[in-house]
Amino acid sequence: MDIIQLNSFKPTNEHTIVPRRIQFKQELKQELESLKRIFLIIGNKASTTEFNLNDLPSSGGRMDLICRFIAQTLFISHGIRRNSASIAILKGEPDPPKAVFAHGGKVRYMAPDERNIAGLLRKAVKYGGKEWKEVSPGIFSAKKGLNEVLEEISDFYMVYLREDGEDISHTLSISPKDKLAFILGDHVGVEKEDENLILRYAEKIVSVSPLSLQADQCVVLIHNFLDRLEFEEFEEKDKLKRI
Ligand SMILES: C[S@@+](CC[C@H](N)C(=O)[O-])C[C@H]1O[C@@H](n2cnc3c(N)ncnc32)[C@H](O)[C@@H]1O
Repeated sequence: MDIIQLNSFKPTNEHTIVPRRIQFKQELKQELESLKRIFLIIGNKASTTEFNLNDLPSSGGRMDLICRFIAQTLFISHGIRRNSASIAILKGEPDPPKAVFAHGGKVRYMAPDERNIAGLLRKAVKYGGKEWKEVSPGIFSAKKGLNEVLEEISDFYMVYLREDGEDISHTLSISPKDKLAFILGDHVGVEKEDENLILRYAEKIVSVSPLSLQADQCVVLIHNFLDRLEFEEFEEKDKLKRI
């Protein structure tokens, strides 16, 4: 039950709904469908072979940044966001690209510290197969690039995070009820070629701050924005019940 295909939605110019062909194994289907928030980061230099856990920034190709990103995507205080996932596209040497997918509802043995997450990623990059494989509980790895992965998650409402985008607090079209995927760059940003790909899928370009932030800081702000909307809605419903 190791190999999965996340899904296989094909984009169309009109964003019309295309019948869904689920290819992943039955056991995983429900959990993948239960995801509400995916955060995808492009690791332009991130290592695609076993890296040194004592040198995440340098020979790891800023693997420290990817680990913080995953931590902020999945963890809250003493808990985990079961309906969130991280995807890292690793584009560093020697065997780019590779993709790692961490599912909040399935991960086990993950702690929020960088070294722990790096240990799990180190195991994930050892795998070089074309199909997704669960390399440790809740962590999937595949020799896939941005294009393939975007296509697989294209039933999510995709939002490209960019400093000059529309202010998220003015964006009425982003609702916590939707299945949302946010695409971000790393310390280098997003290369033109990747940006062109992202723009084929993204419904919106959104900014979360007047400042250029680190990717994991953006994740925190987005979670906070969506959490607040969700709780406001919950409180409204609760008030109505009490009237
Ligand atoms: C450290 S920033 C990239 C900075 C890089 N030097 C550049 O010029 O593109 C990492 C990523 O976080 C996201 N980001 C940073 N600040 C943002 C903001 N204020 N609004 C939206 N996204 C932001 C973007 O996706 C960016 O590629």
